[in-house]
Amino acid sequence: ATERTFSIIKPDATRRNLTGKINAVLEAADLRIIAQKRLHMTQAQAETFYAVHAARPFYRDLVTFMTSGPVVVQVLEGDNAVARNREVMGATDPKKADPGTIRAQFAENIEANSVHGSDSAENAAVEIAYFFAGIELVG
Ligand code: CMP
Repeated sequence: ATERTFSIIKPDATRRNLTGKINAVLEAADLRIIAQKRLHMTQAQAETFYAVHAARPFYRDLVTFMTSGPVVVQVLEGDNAVARNREVMGATDPKKADPGTIRAQFAENIEANSVHGSDSAENAAVEIAYFFAGIELVG
């Protein structure tokens, strides 16, 4: 079924000018970018967005990394968009990501891994609402 997911092109990727190359991979996977904007997350925004990871040892570093430069937040739409985007992103750790995936091609390491994608349709709805107003989603 047609579904929406939330995506972030992370600071390691914007710094290396990879937004277009990553968008090309998403579009080749039949994901449509129905909303997109570039912003620089504040510490408070990154902390709240990643609150689910607050107890993890990597949380502080993650917040520092995600606020280290601009990101591009996106809403992707397509058939089974959540699962399809996770497939095309590849594993969190680029060393474990399948060849051809975004992380295998572009990620620097497990933290600076170029992209984020929602892990469920429920979380996608929460993450989309955190960054976008309904009027900004143009399917
Ligand atoms: P993301 O999919 O955005 O979700 C949590 C992020 O934490 C992850 O991608 C990485 O950027 C970062 N991270 C850093 N270290 C780890 C780790 N050991 N396991 C999972 N995520 C990590």
